[in-house]
Amino acid sequence: TGIGDPDILNPTPWGSSLGQPVAATPYGLPSRHERGLVRRQSPGLTQVAAASVSFAPLQGLFGIITPSGLHFERHHQGWQDIDPTRHRFMIDGARPEFVKTPKVYTMDDILRLPPVSRMHFIECGANTGMEWGNVAVPTVQYTHGMLSCSEFTGVPLRTLLEDCGADLKAAKYVLAEGGDGSSMTRSIPIEPVLSGEVLVAYGQNGEMLRPENGYPLRLVVPGVQGVSWVKWLRRVEVGDRPYATKDEAVHYIDLMPDGQHRQYSSIQECKSVITTPSGGQTLMAKGYFTISGLAWSGRGKIKRVDVSVDGGVTWVEATLQTPILSKCLTRFSLPWSWDGQPALLQSRAIDETGFVQPGYGQLRAARGSRSIYHNNAIQTWQVAENGDVNNVQIL
Ligand code: MTE
Repeated sequence: TGIGDPDILNPTPWGSSLGQPVAATPYGLPSRHERGLVRRQSPGLTQVAAASVSFAPLQGLFGIITPSGLHFERHHQGWQDIDPTRHRFMIDGARPEFVKTPKVYTMDDILRLPPVSRMHFIECGANTGMEWGNVAVPTVQYTHGMLSCSEFTGVPLRTLLEDCGADLKAAKYVLAEGGDGSSMTRSIPIEPVLSGEVLVAYGQNGEMLRPENGYPLRLVVPGVQGVSWVKWLRRVEVGDRPYATKDEAVHYIDLMPDGQHRQYSSIQECKSVITTPSGGQTLMAKGYFTISGLAWSGRGKIKRVDVSVDGGVTWVEATLQTPILSKCLTRFSLPWSWDGQPALLQSRAIDETGFVQPGYGQLRAARGSRSIYHNNAIQTWQVAENGDVNNVQIL
């Protein structure tokens, strides 16, 4: 195939002219031919764009790292580009005895401390939240795009607490507070702080955080829903109980089938999704395709991903691409030959704790269908005879 194609036979403009000089774009940009791959808002989802979400284009990404310019955004009161020379970070205690020497750090203070870099996913608790009752949105960007993965660099919060003489035996929770106007405050249990997992981060994919993602400082709470990753972080208070702040009492709570709300279910349970082929795409002809997608778990590493092309009747184990890291996205793939018949593509992830991603029937039996948060059900993409791929739900 392709023999005689003029695009391989004829001289090209780029092969017969002088290219652009170095540093023509001092901060590099994607090719103009990739203009369609951008963050997108879901029209009508929220009343104002400053208290809204933009979704990452998972359908067009490779590997596991989300380019910083395509990282999803979720702001409760808009984003700020804070002057790092004026940003301050304070540690104090709910009671004076919890922190011996409360301190206020400048960014220069924090940048002098020994850094660690780790790759982790961040998923908003509301990801896939529109799909609880029925199919609501057409593409993987909107069903699963409140998900991103980066290499974060920062200082373990534990190091800073020790520097302030925090009583790590009395401490049971910390309160993290953002510097934006949203009064974003979240209770973080002390265990992941003590283990050194929770980072006070300034770096994302080798450079400083983007303003939209909390520049110059954000909390990284691996495996926990995005709302706890407080951006523009200005204060951590050491306490001995959860704080039940507005965002923990009214939002980010799970509406259960009996009408009660469940609080603090913050771990993002094992989940996966096929990103290609996915909703809104079209298979041009029958024949070979690579089914590819992402799997993740807030409880550790992904152990296995199974893929079905017949709506869950039969399953085949997919190949996991390395690296397979804890609380990080894992890329899976499976070769597939499409015979031109309708197909139902699904992926089902299993993590190292043995947790198996549930189907919609199982999830709704336990959690009902009127919730917003923590929907980790198996996603189904229906391939029609004409090659169109659509979002459907199978119980
Ligand atoms: N932190 C502050 N200060 N203000 C916010 O509005 N939004 C939270 C969290 N941290 C928020 C915040 C929510 S709900 C999520 S899902 C993540 O940030 C989103 O992070 P991102 O915008 O970097 O993707």
